[in-house]
Amino acid sequence: MRVLGIETSCDETGVAVYDSERGLLAHTLYSQVAVHAEYGGVVPELASRDHVRKLLPLIREVMNGAGVTVKDIDGVAYTSGPGLIGALMVGASVGRSLAYAWQVPAVGVHHMEGHLLAPMLEDNPPAFPFVALLVSGGHTQLIEVQGIGQYRILGESVDDAAGEAFDKAAKMLDLDYPGGPEIAKLAQSGDPGRFRFPRPMTDRPGLDFSFSGLKTYTLNTISAHRGDHGLPDDQTMADIACAFQEAVVDTLAIKCRRALEQTGLATLVIAGGVSANTRLREKLSLSLAKVNGEVFYARHEFCTDNGAMIAYAGCRRLMAGQREGLAIRALPRWAMDTLPPLAEV
Ligand code: KG4
Ligand code: ZN
Repeated sequence: MRVLGIETSCDETGVAVYDSERGLLAHTLYSQVAVHAEYGGVVPELASRDHVRKLLPLIREVMNGAGVTVKDIDGVAYTSGPGLIGALMVGASVGRSLAYAWQVPAVGVHHMEGHLLAPMLEDNPPAFPFVALLVSGGHTQLIEVQGIGQYRILGESVDDAAGEAFDKAAKMLDLDYPGGPEIAKLAQSGDPGRFRFPRPMTDRPGLDFSFSGLKTYTLNTISAHRGDHGLPDDQTMADIACAFQEAVVDTLAIKCRRALEQTGLATLVIAGGVSANTRLREKLSLSLAKVNGEVFYARHEFCTDNGAMIAYAGCRRLMAGQREGLAIRALPRWAMDTLPPLAEV
């Protein structure tokens, strides 16, 4: 089965064609980073308008790149949620309408299920069951995964998501949006021994996270070291970025290991934008080696938002018989543990 996948939940327009026999045929991504840069974060209305401008040309480009025409497409998958309502509406309206016009089935995909399954696009995919850590700009969740659609939430953030914490800390350090890669870059020249930031909620049992206290701690450290121009000197900025990143990745690694111990599983899948973080990958492989665990990621470009993960997840659900009604579904909030297991669709 050959599926066109569309992702427009936030500030990237992603399109891909996935073939269940031949794998990923083509994919492309248009990032709106430059559109939102001067505002220091995503402006929802600008995001929607830019998706409108880019989506159809990108669909044409990807279909040409994949060497397919309309009659070669067997289904259309698009992100139905969670995300920004206006942005979701663009992808869902275009996706649902194309499927109707082409007389093929459609399926609305859960964005975080897309992230979770993205490592399946790699040559050495993880096998079920596993523990997944979903770490993006909007989510930080540990999930026990028995199969597609069989999700049990083990823990989640009670306040900010890990990616959101990276973005906010970056803003305090006057770095660009998105903040994660900027902090990671700055942290490379930081001295890890200079500051030690707290590892929130690691001293008590449980698998929930909290990152808002770390944000305040970061702000207080910046304030205590302000120089003549309002910000600390360059080396101190790098030391703070380094201490912040260490605290976040340590906290995530500690909870991942705890989740594996608690479930008795040995496989960990990390997905979502923050899973692109090199330091997190280093920490996890060290930490999991001690418990004989194995960790799987998507390639870097498929850690952040993309159309390939939506085409893949949609293909699996369409092949299992799931079908979308004619309504255009866009759900800004959508709990992942309400998704139907593949066997029941
Ligand atoms: O999955 P994603 O592209 O979009 C959402 O679904 O939210 O994740 C974006 C988040 C942003 O908060 C960004 O700062 C973070 O992922 N991120 C990173 C890195 N690359 C992206 N955080 C830490 N280190 C990175 N290398
Ligand atoms: Zn995402």
